Amino acid sequence: MNEYDEIRNWIFKKYDKVIKKMELTPKRWLHVEGSMKCAYELALKYGLETEKCVLAALLHDYFRDKNKEEIIELAKKYGVKLKKFDLKYPNVLHGKVAVNYFKEIKYKIPKEILKGIKHHTLGNDNFCEYGMLLFVVDAIEETRSYDGVECLRNYIATHSLKDGYKEVLRRTLSDLIKKNKEIPLVTAKAYNKILEDN
Ligand SMILES: [Fe+2]
Ligand SMILES: [Fe+2]
Repeated sequence: MNEYDEIRNWIFKKYDKVIKKMELTPKRWLHVEGSMKCAYELALKYGLETEKCVLAALLHDYFRDKNKEEIIELAKKYGVKLKKFDLKYPNVLHGKVAVNYFKEIKYKIPKEILKGIKHHTLGNDNFCEYGMLLFVVDAIEETRSYDGVECLRNYIATHSLKDGYKEVLRRTLSDLIKKNKEIPLVTAKAYNKILEDN
């Protein structure tokens, strides 16, 4: 058994109770499995703890397949503050709802992982490396297929984590503009912050 499989098995055993309740479509499971593998590889590349990165990838889309009404209900139930943007685009809530749920059931998950999961949909201007890694993984894991994904994978393979995170943010923003879609302020803020830091 290779090291990745050992970590995967260990996590599935340790987090068994919470994973059993995770309701995902088969397609989402493929995305989650792809994210776990990608998280492992990038953790090695960037010298982060592999177990933490794989765990974040496994749990990040915990509530992603709930419909709009369900996710709003869950957000209310677990005390997620609903902003105008969230009500307009309830899908962006699944990270925040998952984190509040894990806290509610008193599941011990490292705090940098929780923060990564909380903000993985829109990015954050105060991410640690674990948050940046999850954001990048979500965009480039092996089952993702969209215009420019291969180019993004190549970019990330040859750059630092911070540069990779910046590039994913930049592409997300430029894609939203191209499609005439609303720009989430938090994503713009995250991008501005990383430009300032460089
Ligand atoms: Fe997600
Ligand atoms: Fe995802």
